[in-house]
Amino acid sequence: MDRIWEEIHSRNEWGAYPSEHVIRFFARNYYGRVRNGEQIKVLDFGCGGGAHTWYLAREGFCVYAFDGSEHAVRNTENRLKRENLQASFKVADGTDVQYERDFFDAVLDNVCIYANRLEDIRSMYHKIYGFLKPGGKLLTVCFGRNTCGFGQGTEIEENTFTDIKKGPLTERGVTHFFDEADIGKVISEAGFRNLQTDRILYTDRGDQVEQFVTQAEK
Ligand SMILES: C[S@@+](CC[C@H](N)C(=O)[O-])C[C@H]1O[C@@H](n2cnc3c(N)ncnc32)[C@H](O)[C@@H]1O
Repeated sequence: MDRIWEEIHSRNEWGAYPSEHVIRFFARNYYGRVRNGEQIKVLDFGCGGGAHTWYLAREGFCVYAFDGSEHAVRNTENRLKRENLQASFKVADGTDVQYERDFFDAVLDNVCIYANRLEDIRSMYHKIYGFLKPGGKLLTVCFGRNTCGFGQGTEIEENTFTDIKKGPLTERGVTHFFDEADIGKVISEAGFRNLQTDRILYTDRGDQVEQFVTQAEK
């Protein structure tokens, strides 16, 4: 993975609170089951500063989380400890992280996988497919080509850029930009079915951001 992330997490505090689309997905699909005492195992894939690890642990999920940045994982662990919350952590690269097969009810990728080259992106979706129980769900969020920064910096392969100097992806290292058809294709090729992709379009301090929020099932 891009080493820039270790630097980012050692310098800055990453966003601490969960995104609305993530809350909506877990509320709709799992709150009833968690409230009934069922153990729902969730993997926060590329947890960063742990906004979603923290949220899921608070809501009573059985949470596993990893990130390729050691600082990110240690910051998240410390945050949960301070609030007496539990999760199981690893430092690992998403292309070779190890968990049991058919283990998780859900895997969350909130803008981690996009920050890689396409070959690694494919390999990570394939791995997630293996980690999920049959019927388990993926929620994955990536950037679209209508995001400020697309086409800037250095193109290291088709639709993948680095050294972006404008917009929300400035100094965020490798960024692969999808369109809706591509993200569907990559996820389907990993074996997933029942895909549903929603699109979020907004501006951030005037810069346009397009995100695809895709749910899919094993
Ligand atoms: C934009 S942050 C998102 C963090 C978190 N999911 C959130 O919603 O706040 C991207 C994270 O993905 C991690 N990451 C990117 N590529 C990775 C890889 N190949 N393996 C492990 N972690 C990776 C980075 O270290 C970073 O913490």
